[in-house]
Amino acid sequence: MNMHVAVQARAHQLDPQTQSFANDVLDGLSRSPKSLPPKYFYDDLGSELFVGITKLPEYYPTRTELGILRARAGEIAALIPPDAALVEFGAGATTKIRLLLGAHKVTAYVPVDISGDFIAAQAEELCADFPELAVYPVAADFTAPFALPDDVRELPKVGFFPGSTIGNFEPHEAADLLRTFRDILGQDSLSQGARLIVGVDLEKDEKLLVPAYDDAAGVTAQFNLNLLARINRELGGDIDLRTFEHRAIYNRDQHRIEMHLVSQRDQTVRILGERFAFTAGETIHTENSYKYSLPRFRTLAEQAGWSLQQSWMDDSGLFSVHALQAS
Ligand code: AVI
Repeated sequence: MNMHVAVQARAHQLDPQTQSFANDVLDGLSRSPKSLPPKYFYDDLGSELFVGITKLPEYYPTRTELGILRARAGEIAALIPPDAALVEFGAGATTKIRLLLGAHKVTAYVPVDISGDFIAAQAEELCADFPELAVYPVAADFTAPFALPDDVRELPKVGFFPGSTIGNFEPHEAADLLRTFRDILGQDSLSQGARLIVGVDLEKDEKLLVPAYDDAAGVTAQFNLNLLARINRELGGDIDLRTFEHRAIYNRDQHRIEMHLVSQRDQTVRILGERFAFTAGETIHTENSYKYSLPRFRTLAEQAGWSLQQSWMDDSGLFSVHALQAS
C-alpha cells in the first residue's frame, strides 16, 4: 500500500472494506487517465439502480438472455448430468437459475456471492419452491479459488455464469476467470467432467449498443454517478455531482462499451484529505463492457481450457448462451 494512503486510512479509522475502497479510489484518481474499478458500483443503491437498468427498454441483454434460457431450457438442461450440482458464480436474483431447475432434476445448488446475507435469503426462497433441492450458499469472491462444500464433492459439477458479467473483465482477466472456474468445478472430481453455462453479450451496431448504456430515462447515468456519491458518503469526498456527466461510447477497435464520468469544468476535488485536479472535459473511466463475436469467445474459452459444446442465440443475434466442457 502506498504510504500516504495507509496514513490517510489510519487517520480516518476505516474498516477493512472501506479501506480497500479508499485505496482503489486514491490510486485510480492518481492515474493518468483517471479510472475507478466497476466493482464499486454495487453498494445497496447501486445494486437497486442496476435492477432498474435490467428493466429498461434500451437494455436488451437481460430480457434477451432470459428469452434464450426460457426457449432453450430443455436443450440446456439435457447437457447437465443427472444428479449434478449447479454452481452459480455471482448469484443474484434467482430468476435465471429457476428456469434450469424447472427443466431438470438437479441434486444440489451452490450459489456463490460475496454478499452472504443476500444469498442466504435467496436460498431460503428456493428451498421452499424446490423442496427436493439441497442448497449450499457459499459467501466468497468467485474471482479467486475457493473450496466447494464437502456435500457436493462427489457430484458432477456444472457452473452457471449468466448476465455477460464476463464482459466486465479485461479479456486476459476473463481467460483467468474461466480457468479459475475450471479449477473450482474440477475440485475432487475429474475436471474433464466439468461443464459451464455462460451468457455472453454479442458485438452489434453501435446504434443499439450505446443507448443500452445511455438510456433516455437517465438510470445508467445515475448508476455511474452513484460511484461519486459513494465516494462522498463513505470517504467524506466533496465532489459536486452536478459537475460530472455520464458518457457511454463504443470503442470498436477494442470491442467494448466504455463508461466515463466527464468533468464539466476545471476543478479540484478532495477525498480523505487528498486533492485531485480535473481539467474541463477530463474523464474518469469507470467501466468496460466487452462484446464478443462467436469466434472470439470460442478462442477465449479454448485458451482457458474449455471447449465449446453448444451455443444458442436469440433470433436477432443480440446475445448468446454457451455450454462449455472442460477439455
Ligand atoms: C453487470 N454487467 C454485465 C453490466 C453490463 O452490461 O456490462 C453492467 C452495466 N453497466 C451499465 N449498464 C449495465
